[in-house]
Amino acid sequence: MDRCAPLGVYDSGVGGLTVVREIRRQLPAEQIIYLADSARLPYGDRTPEEIQLFARQIITFLRSRGVKMVVMACNTSSALALPVVREEFSLPLVGMIEPGVKTALKMSGEGKIGVIATQGTIDSDAYGRILRKHGAQVYSQACPKFVPLIESGQFNSSQMAQAIDEYLGPLRAAGVDTLIYGCTHYPFLDSQVRAYMGEIKTVDPAVEAVRQAGRSLAEMDLLSPGKKGRDLFFATGEPEEFAKRGARLLGQELDWVEHVDLTRV
Ligand code: DGL
Repeated sequence: MDRCAPLGVYDSGVGGLTVVREIRRQLPAEQIIYLADSARLPYGDRTPEEIQLFARQIITFLRSRGVKMVVMACNTSSALALPVVREEFSLPLVGMIEPGVKTALKMSGEGKIGVIATQGTIDSDAYGRILRKHGAQVYSQACPKFVPLIESGQFNSSQMAQAIDEYLGPLRAAGVDTLIYGCTHYPFLDSQVRAYMGEIKTVDPAVEAVRQAGRSLAEMDLLSPGKKGRDLFFATGEPEEFAKRGARLLGQELDWVEHVDLTRV
């Protein structure tokens, strides 16, 4: 494997860009190939079988583009597909759940940990299971209205304010001291969540996930010595729409966005 090979990153939509942001911060020498499965978004209501099929198609596509590792920048995939597809690919795969758990356990004082995520991730209990094993008191909340509102850029709308009150109200009342963003879209909501929750620690699992990715690249002697090409973005839906949303959220233009039909690769 070539050290200059790109890192594959994927999500259902713009959420994984919170992971791209972190890769650019921690591992700036790495070239990224990003896939947004925007034609099939949201992933949150999909069955485990669908999420596993999508993961197989996407990893196969990213592998065909020569990536040296895949970061599943999607908690729903990490919860529902990673344990299954890990056995099927020889490519190193990094998910979001274990890094999120590790960070929360380290940060939480009282061990009262809230998890907000998609319905699929909450139903899988992927976070809750491990957190409880470590003695934490877990408060899980599915937030199905967040992803469509974030994708359409409605951060300060009345619908968003209502959704925040509906989902975070019970967690605030329960007195959680730490809140895990168990969906990669949610760190984009950080300022709204903090304003509502007050004094609370928030966990973006991307920080530790990228740290782990960097560590395992170093162990395999696969860290890039320097960025050779620009980052490439693919979308299964409208590429212009994805480019527009992505640029707005990242605060910079996406270098290059192309449409891809995963049923044909
Ligand atoms: N951003 C993804 C996650 O972390 C998926 C959101 C969705 O498509 O519902 O779970």
